[in-house]
Amino acid sequence: MTREPASGRTDKDLRAAIDAAVWAPSVHNTQPWRFSVRGSTISLRADADRRLEVADPDGREMLLSCGAALYTLRLALRAEGYRPETVVLPDPDRPHLVADVHVAEGDAIEDADVRRLYAQIERRRTHRGAFVDEPVGAPVLAGLHYEAEAEGARLVQAIEMHTKGALAALTQAADHVQRRSRQYMSETARWAPAPGSTRAEGVPQESYPQQSPRTEPHFPTRDFARGHGWGVHVEPPEDALLTGAVLLLVTGSDEPRDWVRAGQALQRVLLRATEAGLAAAFHTQALEIPELRDFVRDRFCAGAHPQMILRLGTAAGPGFATVRRAADVTEEG
Ligand SMILES: Cc1cc2nc3c(=O)[nH]c(=O)nc-3n(C[C@H](O)[C@H](O)[C@H](O)COP(=O)(O)O)c2cc1C
Repeated sequence: MTREPASGRTDKDLRAAIDAAVWAPSVHNTQPWRFSVRGSTISLRADADRRLEVADPDGREMLLSCGAALYTLRLALRAEGYRPETVVLPDPDRPHLVADVHVAEGDAIEDADVRRLYAQIERRRTHRGAFVDEPVGAPVLAGLHYEAEAEGARLVQAIEMHTKGALAALTQAADHVQRRSRQYMSETARWAPAPGSTRAEGVPQESYPQQSPRTEPHFPTRDFARGHGWGVHVEPPEDALLTGAVLLLVTGSDEPRDWVRAGQALQRVLLRATEAGLAAAFHTQALEIPELRDFVRDRFCAGAHPQMILRLGTAAGPGFATVRRAADVTEEG
């Protein structure tokens, strides 16, 4: 039997947990989520108006983003002393539902590890640059593998230079194809506001460097500036910089439920990495082109389904800024 939490405390705490959840990463910072609260249940729904129609027609990245928000919500509730009980989609009568989180009173035991991870939620930022010449330690990597598996996904590390090179080349190929596509670029433009914009969504110029530092092998950053010269000025280093650890986040099957799972695993891995002083760069261009995604799957994932390609390391240079809109919350009943 779970005890219902005392409602005086709950309303404020549930709202605080939702406010924490919006700090999850999302593709193009679309923040494609909505929350509603009924009693002590929080429902998380995908906001399909925020799906990227060109880059993400199936809503895979939208659900990954929602999964990241879901993990953050669960973590925040646990940090507040509750016991979240999560039921993940599907519900045929509620098509955009991602999950219902029933909030039960916890055992009030202070969990230092949960608090430490919770403290990373607003510190974590997407990195869009190179890494210093310092390999990610084996114990940290082992810990990250564990975090991904605990959420039902898996990390596959590209260790061989040729594998890293092939993934970088595939990212470059996808990036070239996308830069040539008018539909793709106008969709990116919609989510990359011009300097001075007050929008609290999308990827503003404070979030990326003016010039993407050249790493070896080179993983191109998405073209948010579109030739306008926007971005943070970072002194270019003399030498090529390190790519960092290259990781694929994979799942055994490829249904919407797996995408939510992968999103939860992603955020759990990212928060643990932040705690260890590491930053992550994402390169999902190749996974948005079905033929390239199939190729990555066959060649580098032993048949598992690639959900994210990321680089991990100690950031060279300053971190970048990000923005968030206030949580979209409906109180029901
Ligand atoms: C599914 C997914 C795909 C992403 N793909 C990329 C990408 O290809 N390139 C990139 O620079 N950032 C990518 N991101 C990071 C988002 O742009 C980032 O989370 C968002 O701008 C918010 O910024 P923050 O992570 O610093 O809070 C991705 C994030 C998610 C969840």
